[in-house]
Amino acid sequence: MDPWLFLPFCPDDLEAVVAIESQSFEQPWKRRALEGELTSPGALAFVLKASERAAQSDVAAYIFLRRQMDEVHIMKLAVTPELRRQGLASRLVAQALAEARREGGIRAILEVRPSNTAAIGLYRRLGFRSIGKRKRYYGPTGEDALVMAKNLEEVP
Ligand SMILES: CC(C)(COP(=O)(O)OP(=O)(O)OC[C@H]1O[C@@H](n2cnc3c(N)ncnc32)[C@H](O)[C@@H]1OP(=O)(O)O)[C@@H](O)C(=O)NCCC(=O)NCCS
Repeated sequence: MDPWLFLPFCPDDLEAVVAIESQSFEQPWKRRALEGELTSPGALAFVLKASERAAQSDVAAYIFLRRQMDEVHIMKLAVTPELRRQGLASRLVAQALAEARREGGIRAILEVRPSNTAAIGLYRRLGFRSIGKRKRYYGPTGEDALVMAKNLEEVP
């Protein structure tokens, strides 16, 4: 049996998402910001859960996206620290982009810190390419963001 289930986010998952978020980012989004994102127009959100414990909302990874016309923006992605480097993010992003493609998405776009070598490595492996920078994107450090994009017509 496949050990991981790809599922739409459900409200019972929020507690686990808040916990992973706080372990994953220097400036984690607070619960209210995550809830706000989930209720934004065009929001899409998915999780990976261990198949055996799926009913208990045991979230291993999450991705939040936002569809705007034919573009899908990756807003949030994180894997629980003890499960990293096992291919979970690769799988979650690929499955989420396939869903976005089915809903009419043509291009995926995201911002990433240039210092986040793990995420940049992941996105490159998934076929994203750098298309530019957004100056002083990350407050309060003022770090620029690297902008990466991928043509979803390549997604099966
Ligand atoms: C970035 C992140 C989502 C990757 O999740 P993951 O499940 O470990 O990623 P995968 O196992 O699918 O890795 C796929 C590839 O990405 C690259 N990669 C992932 N983690 C890496 C690391 N720590 N260092 C270098 N490359 C890395 C590798 O090329 C890897 O392939 P490999 O393991 O065969 O070498 C995870 O590290 C994370 O949650 N980080 C904190 C939150 C974050 O930075 N989110 C992204 C914001 S834009």
